[in-house]
Amino acid sequence: MRTFATGEAMAEAAATEVARVVQDAVARRGTCLLVLAGGSTPRDLYENLSVEPRCSQIAWSSMRLFWGDERCVPPHHPASNYAMARETLLSRVPIAKESAHRIHGELEPKRAAELYEKELRRVAGEVLPRFDLVLLGVGTDGHTASLFPDTPDLLEEQRLVVATVSPDPPRNRVTLTLRALNASRQVMFLVRGEDKASVLRDVMVPADAGSPQQLPAALVRPREGRTLWFVDRPAAAEIPARQRT
Ligand code: 6PG
Repeated sequence: MRTFATGEAMAEAAATEVARVVQDAVARRGTCLLVLAGGSTPRDLYENLSVEPRCSQIAWSSMRLFWGDERCVPPHHPASNYAMARETLLSRVPIAKESAHRIHGELEPKRAAELYEKELRRVAGEVLPRFDLVLLGVGTDGHTASLFPDTPDLLEEQRLVVATVSPDPPRNRVTLTLRALNASRQVMFLVRGEDKASVLRDVMVPADAGSPQQLPAALVRPREGRTLWFVDRPAAAEIPARQRT
């Protein structure tokens, strides 16, 4: 876990890491499959990627962008994760519209999930797409993407995308499943703010080491990939010093 004095410092370091991963993926495989997170935490990161020096470091024409989840609202709606990424990143960088594979939140949720899974398999691999980097946040209840605690979605072993329901509005969501997330080469969690301190402790240090971890954010552990945590100091307040770097 890398901790930073402020959220701004975290976003700056995260932009450096994203640019490094993208360059490495493009150099090795000719393309980079990057999954964007929703919510508010990634805004600074996306803006950092859209300005120099990172903007020129990134081979935007070799990128394929996806979303980890979406609220079932139209793409111009203020709650849309796509709208947030368009405002802070897509509208500012030279990436082709067809290289940003959004989840069609304006459709009926199950239909949107089916179409997104088909798009994923068409672009990223029929059997099991392997994303180069997945950006994720953590909710105060331990959710990540739109995988919420105590839901059957956490047990999904076949599908890559499901329609689900959030306890908070907008309720209807579409999300990547753990099967899709855990096939990734690298996952980067971005966590900031003192309101995340207790849930981050529960994710990183389960109350009872013997009990199976149930918080969705703790279940994202790519089998053949790396999990990075970028956390600001207020969010890391309850993490033992030995787990911070
Ligand atoms: C969403 C995100 C969700 C988010 C967390 C943290 O659609 O809201 O996918 O998983 O990352 O809720 O949100 P904040 O960054 O706003 O704290």
